Amino acid sequence: MSEILLNVQGLFVGYGEVPVLRDIHMDIRRGEIVALVGSNGAGKTTLLRALSRVLAGTGKITFDGHDLTHLTPDQGFALGLVQVPEGRQLFDQMTVFENLMMGAFRRRSKGAIHATLESVYALFPTLYERRTQRAGSLSGGEQQMCAIGRGLMATPKLLMVDEMSLGLAPVIIDQLLEVLSTIRKQDVTVLLVEQDVFAALEVADRGYVIETGAVTQSGTALELTESPEVKRAYLGI
Ligand SMILES: Nc1ncnc2c1ncn2[C@@H]1O[C@H](COP(=O)(O)OP(=O)(O)O)[C@@H](O)[C@H]1O
Ligand SMILES: [Mg+2]
Repeated sequence: MSEILLNVQGLFVGYGEVPVLRDIHMDIRRGEIVALVGSNGAGKTTLLRALSRVLAGTGKITFDGHDLTHLTPDQGFALGLVQVPEGRQLFDQMTVFENLMMGAFRRRSKGAIHATLESVYALFPTLYERRTQRAGSLSGGEQQMCAIGRGLMATPKLLMVDEMSLGLAPVIIDQLLEVLSTIRKQDVTVLLVEQDVFAALEVADRGYVIETGAVTQSGTALELTESPEVKRAYLGI
C-alpha cells in the first residue's frame, strides 16, 4: 500500500504567458483514494491536464516508475493514467455500450474487454439496462456512471475523476462515491477532483487543498475535514 504510484515535484504550469500552477508537490500511493479539492478556478483541471500530458509544464512527474515529463497524452494513457473529464464528454448520439467501448479502443483482446465490460455492468446495473440507449438520453447521474465506466474500460492504474458530483443530487453522489470505494478494492487508485470538498473527503484517504494554483494544505481526510481553515473556506463557518 505504501508504494508511490504518482509523484509530482515542483510542477509549474500556465496557459501561454499566464502562470496557473505554482510549485505543486503531490504523492499518490497505490490503492489510495486521494482528493484534490478547491474552489472554482483554483487550478484543479489544469493540474489534471498536466498529469494527462495535455498541458506541458516544468517540474517532474513520475507515474508507475516512468518519467512522464516527455511522454505524450497517448503514452500516459497507455501506462494507465486515465481521466474522466469534467462535464462527462460522452458521445450523445452513441449508445451507452458504444461509449463504454470507446474506453477500450487501445485494447486488443476481445475476451479481456468483455470481462471488463461485465465488471462495469456489475458496478452499474443501470448501464446494463440502458446499454442500447443513446447516452444523450440518460440522466446526469447515469451519464456520470457511463463516463466512469468508459474510464474503467481502459483498465486504469490511476483513474482521475474531474468534478464527479457537479450538478448531481446528493443520493446519486453517494452512490458514485460508493462505487469509487469498490473500485479501489479492485486495484484502481483514484484521484478525485472536487469543488464539493466534503463529499470528496468522505471517501478519500488523504487530500490536497489547492487555492489560486498552489497547494495550501494536505493531510488525511480526517485532518482536512476538521481543519479550521478548510471549514472556514468551504463551509463559511
Ligand atoms: N484554456 C485556458 N486558457 C487560459 N486560462 C485558463 C484556461 N483554462 C483555465 N484557465 C485559467 O486557469 C485557472 C485555473 O482553472 P482550472 O484549472 O480550470 O480551475 P478548476 O478546475 O480548479 O476550476 C483559472 O484562472 C482559469 O481562468
Ligand atoms: Mg475544473
